[in-house]
Amino acid sequence: MSKPEDYPSHSHPCNPCRRRFMKQAGTLLGAGLAAPLVAKASTGGNVVDISHIPVDGIGATSFKGQPIVVLNRSRKTLNALEHDQSLLADPQSKHSQQPAFADNPFRSRVPEWLVMVNVCTHQGCPTQFQPSMEAGAGGFFCPCHGSRFDAAGRVYRNQPAPRNMEIPNYEIDVKRKQVRLIDVQPVRLAAQAEGGEGGQGENDGG
Ligand code: FES
Repeated sequence: MSKPEDYPSHSHPCNPCRRRFMKQAGTLLGAGLAAPLVAKASTGGNVVDISHIPVDGIGATSFKGQPIVVLNRSRKTLNALEHDQSLLADPQSKHSQQPAFADNPFRSRVPEWLVMVNVCTHQGCPTQFQPSMEAGAGGFFCPCHGSRFDAAGRVYRNQPAPRNMEIPNYEIDVKRKQVRLIDVQPVRLAAQAEGGEGGQGENDGG
């Protein structure tokens, strides 16, 4: 399991994808699919207000140049994450990057709240949350080449994306409905996996 200190230090190689993110993020927000998270400066991090995100709703922001989404998951969605794992390429997230606190089926500090780097691990496109995916359990869809992820950012088998999407380091105050983003690392993409960096996930072709 990768820990924050194990993150690679190379930079994001896909600038066109990053530009695509900024354009598509605007589209998502305009369509009402993701609410912008209210952020304010805080010593040592970035605090975002998640109080306005409804159940099965999603908010979006950016941190250190990376797109971040926060998903408020329903009990139905959480149940699906625990039980529907047979179609996933890496259900235990052994080949993806996340802090140790996310070493659980929900990939989060608090089950209901997913905080995730919204970068598809294939070529770096932003994904879209689709509440109706997987019989209503919800999931993330990448419009660039069609990769599908569950509501914890875990990639399904036989997708272009080689591994699960990544989780930043953060703290969450459930009572105040605030997330404090602490750190985020460059996302490893498919081309980098083919070059020998990182572990081999099921979708890497092995
Ligand atoms: S960039 Fe997401 S499937 Fe290719």
